[in-house]
Amino acid sequence: MTNDFSEMIDRRNTNSVKWDVGADELPMWVADMDFRTAPAIVEAIKQKADTGIFGYEEVPDDYFAAVQHWYTSEHNWQPQPCWMRFVTGVVPAISSAVRRISNVGDNVLIQAPVYNIFYNSIINNGRHILSSDLVNNDGTYEINWADLAAKMAAPLTTMMILCNPHNPVGKVWQPAELRRIAELAAANHVTVFSDEIHGDITDAGHGYTPFAAASDTAANLSVTAVSPSKTFNVAALHAATLIIPNERLRNIVDRGINTDELAEPNAFAIPGTIAAYTQGADWVHALNATITANKQALTKFVAANIPQLHVITGHATYLVWIDCGEISHDSVKLCQAIRDTTGLFLSDGAEYGGDGDHYLRMNVACPPDRLQDGLNRLATGIKNFQK
Ligand SMILES: Cc1ncc(COP(=O)(O)O)c(C=O)c1O
Repeated sequence: MTNDFSEMIDRRNTNSVKWDVGADELPMWVADMDFRTAPAIVEAIKQKADTGIFGYEEVPDDYFAAVQHWYTSEHNWQPQPCWMRFVTGVVPAISSAVRRISNVGDNVLIQAPVYNIFYNSIINNGRHILSSDLVNNDGTYEINWADLAAKMAAPLTTMMILCNPHNPVGKVWQPAELRRIAELAAANHVTVFSDEIHGDITDAGHGYTPFAAASDTAANLSVTAVSPSKTFNVAALHAATLIIPNERLRNIVDRGINTDELAEPNAFAIPGTIAAYTQGADWVHALNATITANKQALTKFVAANIPQLHVITGHATYLVWIDCGEISHDSVKLCQAIRDTTGLFLSDGAEYGGDGDHYLRMNVACPPDRLQDGLNRLATGIKNFQK
């Protein structure tokens, strides 16, 4: 098995959330890639399956050593194994942390437009969403620092969920920005949950900084969530890791993930993650080059063929945020029209809050030929909509 990012894999009728669509439809929405995972992961899972033994398991030291190895070699940060806890997913861990770190009725701060499921984790637990909306400043999203400071200082703000790097705008937060967020959080006794699930998928030369690596202050007030699920396209492995340097905070979150029953791995989560983090680096670097090329191809195509759309340049994730404001401020309607007339299934930006009502999100983690199909459909869909 080789790293082939051009293979057109048929994922229909495989229980795939992404591909459970009409026969002629092309899904480019949910954050799930159309690539087979790294061969080392497949091999590790096969070996585990061959044992035929799937009883209850502890998380071994090798697992935490593998996470440490990955963050040291890929991201220049050496988290200690004793700071780590295994969890069965980032979203369940966010929900659990919301319940442990904040109280009913508190504000949980986010930066819209942002990953839509953050909203569920906050609302479903009876907390208030408080957004310090990101501002699109001439094609680059930025933090409104005065607004963020005011919202951090609101008496009921006890927690912030940071998306680092940011889905959907693809922004890689810089160390100085992360330090500034940490200073504001420290001044206002706010705990930061940093969701770093997209941290491995960046363009060359634009590597991300883990929040807790930005400063001692950041490390001391944060819970970081990492996972191979986006990086290696293994969402159904249900494996993620929380990294919490502060012992007191770690104990609080640890109690939550145990009472919420998120701390026990399935049979394949451990061997799959260890293989990913110890043998997967070359695969990820090749993946990132493919995604960068796809983002460039999209940007070029849109500029040449659909100049009414404006692509936001993001150096992280395989999700491209596209400004459709010249055409519509109702991205739900536009998305539905594109789907109805061409079969192309995108995410409507409104789902992510903030200014998302005039954006589309397109997932470009697919073979170049499939991307071209999607781009052709997008051009046709926009033309049809404007008729
Ligand atoms: C920012 C972010 N966090 C979390 C998740 C999902 O995490 P998990 O499947 O581990 O619950 C996603 C999936 O798209 C995401 O974009």
